Amino acid sequence: MSLKPVFYDPAITYEENFSKGPFNINNINIVKNDKNPKYSFVGRKVNSPFGVAAGILLNSNHVKHAFDMGFDVVCYKTQRSTTFPCNEYPNVVYLDVKGNLTLEKASKPIVGHSTTNKSLAEVTVTNSFGVPSKGPSFWVEDLKKALSHQGKGQLLIMSVVGTILKGFTEQDYFDDFASTAKLAVDNGAKVIEINLSCPNVASEGVLCYTKASVIAICKKTKQAIGNVPLIAKLGYFSKLQQDTLKATIIEASPYLSAVSVINTIAAPIVDKYGNQLLPGPNRLKAGVCGKGIKWAGLDMVERINKIRQENNLNLQVIGVGGVMNTDDFIEYRQKGADLVQSATAAMWNDNLANQVKAIL
Ligand SMILES: Cc1cc2nc3c(=O)[nH]c(=O)nc-3n(C[C@H](O)[C@H](O)[C@H](O)COP(=O)(O)O)c2cc1C
Repeated sequence: MSLKPVFYDPAITYEENFSKGPFNINNINIVKNDKNPKYSFVGRKVNSPFGVAAGILLNSNHVKHAFDMGFDVVCYKTQRSTTFPCNEYPNVVYLDVKGNLTLEKASKPIVGHSTTNKSLAEVTVTNSFGVPSKGPSFWVEDLKKALSHQGKGQLLIMSVVGTILKGFTEQDYFDDFASTAKLAVDNGAKVIEINLSCPNVASEGVLCYTKASVIAICKKTKQAIGNVPLIAKLGYFSKLQQDTLKATIIEASPYLSAVSVINTIAAPIVDKYGNQLLPGPNRLKAGVCGKGIKWAGLDMVERINKIRQENNLNLQVIGVGGVMNTDDFIEYRQKGADLVQSATAAMWNDNLANQVKAIL
């Protein structure tokens, strides 16, 4: 049985997903939140500690459906200060990954396919978009619409990223994170997430592994947005990077309300002949997400939980990566996640929040 897409259909382009999605939502059973929200996240009361991670809610139509289906803390797909094109199709392909995608496995080519016969619980995919944006002329108004869909006990997080424009210095690039976040806040965003972990924009690299850059961006952004809670989205740190992780978390924590871990694990993606699968420059490697990376998300939650306990940090943790079902949600909560989010599984299963609520 093939998977039925809801929030994102890998078989069609990003633009088609943007204008036509979400899909297969005819029998929608809107979740009523009539009780008092009893969970808390970044100082707000929420109905459940579960939601959708940045990436699959492309605009306010997608956000509305996520809230309707009871996902209580959801991210609007990462936006920029300027228009930015999407990488060429395909952007999401199914991967041959058996068990955990360890860093050792991720260093070798992985074969990608346009279809799968796996069950959703077993799916591992790559996503490679390059963080497209229609620019503020679109997203500012659309963000307001998305915010209007929040019900009681629901929270929209606005995800933003900086852009390197021609002639920009490093400081200009960092300032762009801050001014984009400020623009979102000026237009109603109540929580900001900065994406410091995108592996798909070759010219910008993966920021989160350079402590000085993380601190500078967090500081500038926090100064720009004042009391609005700030979340930093990080990638996976290997055990060899533990000291950097610890120092980064401790030094960034004065500016942060939460960290979100993890984004994806980068790996070379090839076709069955071993050739680069995703067309275009700098796309041999792409971010892997879904089932195969759950171990890495759990590991980061556990390590950051320990760092915050040992150092008395007032910092919440969002667990992301391979949350395919309610058992995965429970595992993340047991490791210390204050909030859990899904991207890959939620692409197809818009009932996941209801399933989680049934076991709370
Ligand atoms: C289709 C897709 C698009 C994504 N786009 C973004 C993005 O724009 N910004 C971001 O911070 N993460 C993005 N991500 C990463 C997810 O937020 C998440 O960190 C990652 O996929 C791991 O969670 P999962 O295993 O539940 O998918 C995207 C993921 C997917 C599947």
